[in-house]
Amino acid sequence: MTNEEKIALFEKEINYMKIEDVKDFFKKAIALIPDYFFEVPASSSGQFHSALECGFGGLVYHTRSVAKIANYLVNLQQYKSKLNEVEKDCVICAALLHDCLKHDWENKTGFSVHQHPIVAATFIRSDERLDGLLNEEFRVIIGDAVASHSGEFTTSKRSKIVLPEPQTLVQELVHLSDYIASRGDIHILFEGEDNKPKLPDPNEYVLNFGKHSGKSLTYVFNHHRDYLDWCKENIKREPLISLIKLLEEQEQSQEEEEI
Ligand SMILES: [Fe+2]
Ligand SMILES: [Fe+2]
Repeated sequence: MTNEEKIALFEKEINYMKIEDVKDFFKKAIALIPDYFFEVPASSSGQFHSALECGFGGLVYHTRSVAKIANYLVNLQQYKSKLNEVEKDCVICAALLHDCLKHDWENKTGFSVHQHPIVAATFIRSDERLDGLLNEEFRVIIGDAVASHSGEFTTSKRSKIVLPEPQTLVQELVHLSDYIASRGDIHILFEGEDNKPKLPDPNEYVLNFGKHSGKSLTYVFNHHRDYLDWCKENIKREPLISLIKLLEEQEQSQEEEEI
């Protein structure tokens, strides 16, 4: 993917910002982000986020959703009077960059890393490749908001790192936007776009949890349907639930053809 293609994915969201320097800073930053960011789902376990954010390109979809919510919030009268133009743009820019290094720079494990808010904040505040584009003070505002975007969820069983919590209104709004966008039962839609989850091929999808972990979904669908019925009731993981639905629809249309 070229730098221009990476930037073009966020065309609408870049226009939420008013200050050219902040826009240019975002464009330069997003062009430096590793390719995996533009492909992976928003949740590597599928435990969180809606189906729209769990397919191919789901992390980009999630990022755009967070920016969309942030834009609604900063334009509310109740916040307008408390934020200046720079701070409003910093909220949007931080929303757009909050998960930009979700799997760290190298995506070694294919999973998100707990400290990703700090990795991204360090990039924003002090990467030399971004020097000279934006007032240092604004860089710190954006970086600090990215660092605290996980809100109260500051710790992880798998890490000793404790993330900072939001302190300022800018930081709270970035966290709030991320929190709302990542609820599994809230679907953010984009006008004029197909808004369909880009699901993986069900024939290639392998279960990554439970007693059938490591088996292909189609095998489990054909031989252990009762287990998938149980999953539908008890496990709210995407893209699994959407894939089961897809297989059921395919099966039904096949049956109708045979009649
Ligand atoms: Fe995050
Ligand atoms: Fe996020």
